[in-house]
Amino acid sequence: MFNLANPPADFTQNPFPYYDELLANSPVTPQPDGSFLITKHADLNAIYRDTDLYISDKKQAFAPKFGTGTPLYEHHTTSLVFNDPPLHTRVRRIMTGALTPKALARMEPGLIAAVDMLLDQMPQAPDLIEDFASVIPIQIIGNLLDIPTSERGPLRDWSLAILGALEPTLTDVQLAKGHTAVSEFKLYLQDLIARRCANPGDPETDVLTRLINGDASGQLSEIELIHNCIFILNAGHETTTNLIGSGLALLHDNPAQKSLLQNDLTLINTGTEEILRLRSPNQFGNRETTAEVTIGGHKIPPRTNLHLCIGAANRDPEVFDNPTQFDITRQPNRHLAFAGGPHVCVGLTLARMEGRIAIQRFLTRYPNYQLSDDRTPGGRIRFHGYTHLPATI
Ligand code: HEM
Repeated sequence: MFNLANPPADFTQNPFPYYDELLANSPVTPQPDGSFLITKHADLNAIYRDTDLYISDKKQAFAPKFGTGTPLYEHHTTSLVFNDPPLHTRVRRIMTGALTPKALARMEPGLIAAVDMLLDQMPQAPDLIEDFASVIPIQIIGNLLDIPTSERGPLRDWSLAILGALEPTLTDVQLAKGHTAVSEFKLYLQDLIARRCANPGDPETDVLTRLINGDASGQLSEIELIHNCIFILNAGHETTTNLIGSGLALLHDNPAQKSLLQNDLTLINTGTEEILRLRSPNQFGNRETTAEVTIGGHKIPPRTNLHLCIGAANRDPEVFDNPTQFDITRQPNRHLAFAGGPHVCVGLTLARMEGRIAIQRFLTRYPNYQLSDDRTPGGRIRFHGYTHLPATI
């Protein structure tokens, strides 16, 4: 029986054959700790949309994992993604107000200029993660909260440590790194928030000022404010890095698809969706049942943790023709890379815009890039991508 807490050694590097096997033979798999692993697209889709039967609150799951009262527990149980209404609804409404189509259109020229500057400065043998994919989202998300450029240095490592602590099993080192990152990030944000209160930004564009101002029902507490700022910085960073990095790797490894795109750059729209489908940066989500449910013939008790395998659902042959094939013209493409229902990714339009612009402009500027063999995969279960992609351009 497949055990997510103790997967085969090559699972983090290449989980896809395991997903295919689960979809074919065990789409709902009970786990030794009482949780369930769910892989079918229809099941995930239904679960994401039913917030009465399946909640996002993780206090029960995170208490033994992080210890109540610890920095990671405080962070992950206060961010909107692991909350239900009313906190979830309020924070989400405040955030989405700064990501309207008008606000995104205003961001686009700056994004193009930032990508072009990186391409101009690219060394002959770049690391496509360090020198390109990871730099773009930090700039965009840093701009969204108006974090001074000179203060963005530690954001990436904090983000990797905090999101890394969401892996199904953790070493003591990962746990300690995660706690330290939350504590340092909190201290930094306390200071930034004090400065922003003294000198507010434009709430039309500055998410931090919006979150500080709150809404008609009042302001967020300081702890809610800090942890939701941390969350938005983390949510928009590593995921988008992985979209760009995995996209460049997939295109490199599939030269016919790469040529197709180079000959018709308008295919970047469906191409980005196909990268999201086949290499979802976020491979797993979680929900907890509120009542007994039956999924795939399994009776599942209330208060059970469900692991929702987005990466598998995106390869479900009942939804996708030739699901293992990378096809940049695929349409329709009902992937679940951004989940679904009331928690669907707040930043999905921004992420798509970043992915499209970064990949398209990279391909145009460096059409013959070659990746070397010594790529470093992220080595994680929940977040999929590369930490290093050495290349020549
Ligand atoms: C390719 C890039 C991205 C991917 C694959 C991605 C994926 C996801 C997924 C799967 C969820 C749902 C989690 C759940 O409920 O279980 C989510 C939520 C969220 N994402 Fe993204 N995301 C990306 C980029 C971004 C960006 C750029 C931002 C910020 C502007 C962002 C902000 C958020 C927020 C705030 C939530 C919580 C929404 C809620 O709970 O209502 N994401 N994302």
